[in-house]
Amino acid sequence: MSERIRKVVFPVAGLGTRFLPATKASPKEMLPVVDKPLIQYAVEEAVAAGAETLIFVTGRTKRAIEDHFDKAYELEMELEAKQKHRMLELVRSTVPKGVNCIYIRQGEALGLGHAVLCAQPIVGNDPFGVILADDLIDGQGEKVLSQMVREFDEHQCSLLGVERVPMQETGSYGVVSARDFADSVSAVDAIVEKPAPAEAPSNLAVVGRYILTPAIFELLRHTVPDAKGEIQLTDAISALLRQERVLAHEFTGKRYDCGSKLGYLKATVEYGLQHPDLGAAFGEYLKSR
Ligand code: G1P
Repeated sequence: MSERIRKVVFPVAGLGTRFLPATKASPKEMLPVVDKPLIQYAVEEAVAAGAETLIFVTGRTKRAIEDHFDKAYELEMELEAKQKHRMLELVRSTVPKGVNCIYIRQGEALGLGHAVLCAQPIVGNDPFGVILADDLIDGQGEKVLSQMVREFDEHQCSLLGVERVPMQETGSYGVVSARDFADSVSAVDAIVEKPAPAEAPSNLAVVGRYILTPAIFELLRHTVPDAKGEIQLTDAISALLRQERVLAHEFTGKRYDCGSKLGYLKATVEYGLQHPDLGAAFGEYLKSR
């Protein structure tokens, strides 16, 4: 019987030190690109791909995320009284009806692998998606998780979203070596976390989109922490490769690394230019300077 992806995990416990002081008291995932926080783009991508349960692995100073996806009584009453229907709709539709949000605290910053392991009690024995909200990807037609769910429906195995990066940047990513498998996917042979360019098996970098089978949990449990004391998801995927097929999906779309200031600014410009209300005026402004 084929399985469907109904649950998506959002690891959002990271400190976001690159954006200090903006992220001193508020989560980096709440940084807006034009008028929507990064985490909302991620949630919309998950929901578009069919997710029904959204699992946020949070930490201290992250309460704003819970509030964002919750009912905002005072605000809604005020907007209703003032007949501001369009705004009311924006406030109410951060999560569609029927989609459940669940929050789990990751008490200590023990790495991405540990964050994913924290979600196990909710994910259980099902395949699931993982979205890292600071990789904002404009799927240009079809959002990336939807592209990957299509591949999952066909191949029923773990999938990693990958992108070719300049060789000198391999040290910022999980990097895979892979060989052709089918139309838009390749079979992963090896995966290494943040290799120096000279050691990298290729320039195919894993970006913040994963579909994983539940076998990953047992492997995460046995993953030895790295030199910084963090449990890396990449290391558990490397172990998974010895048990199951893992495919790499070179996505269609444009990624903005919103974990970096430059990437975030680029996203702001591009999404600003595409914005239905602002795009034309913003484009004129950019030209004028
Ligand atoms: C994490 C993963 C890395 C992956 C990257 C994608 O690194 O550990 O394998 O390539 O996300 O954004 P981080 O950016 O959290 O250091």
